[in-house]
Amino acid sequence: MSYTKRFDGRKFDEIRKMEAKVGVIPRADGSATFKIGDTIATVAVYGPRSMFPRFLQNPEKGVLRCYYDMISFSVTERKRPGPSRRSTEINLVTEKSLLPVLDLTQFPNTAVDVYIQITQANAGTRCAGICAASLALAHAGIPMKDLVAAISVGKVSDKIIIDLDKKEEDHKEGATDIPLAFTGRGKQISLLQLDGEVTKDELIKAIELGRNGCEEILKVQKKALQDYYKGEIRWMEIILNP
Ligand code: CDP
Repeated sequence: MSYTKRFDGRKFDEIRKMEAKVGVIPRADGSATFKIGDTIATVAVYGPRSMFPRFLQNPEKGVLRCYYDMISFSVTERKRPGPSRRSTEINLVTEKSLLPVLDLTQFPNTAVDVYIQITQANAGTRCAGICAASLALAHAGIPMKDLVAAISVGKVSDKIIIDLDKKEEDHKEGATDIPLAFTGRGKQISLLQLDGEVTKDELIKAIELGRNGCEEILKVQKKALQDYYKGEIRWMEIILNP
């Protein structure tokens, strides 16, 4: 059997509808929401602020700490509250995907804490979290060389597709999930995970699909920042469109 038509009718290279908004949590130093299909990530950034416990401080630069969490009723089968092995992994890969664009050298001995809440989940939550976190860090005014956009690509049955939803991830003929993140202008890969099996050629094709998808995401991210700062400052335009 072959996967000829996607369950939700999308084209194989079509991303679910996206929405992004910056400045959604007034008390936070930076915040953003990123929605892709039914998956919604909201991020609050606090910092740079003094880091405790002190022994974790780095006298040379600030430390990025990500805290990913999925609320219990974000999924159909209630998720046990609190951290898990999965969230520990996602915290680590999220930090790794964002660090290449951040310059924390001006903030020794501090922490930049990034709280990622998934309020509704239908696959691709780590990628949605990264997209929102990148926006929230920019909103917090943390020096950044670039934005980061992330999307999951993969293989469902015999097809290479972008932005798998949960039904596709659970396809009876098997699915391979490849979360990817690209830096905006640099186009460097800052996240690549692979859960399943693909050939080398399929992987190359999937990465290309992801690269194009991240271009689209980047447009949505830039628009969210531009909408927030509308009319206020020209430097944001200069940064986003050098
Ligand atoms: O969300 P992401 O694709 O980054 O990570 P995953 O571990 O591959 O999870 C895929 C999807 O499974 C999530 O987006 C949720 O929709 C679902 N999930 C769930 O229903 N219950 C959990 N405890 C964890 C994930």
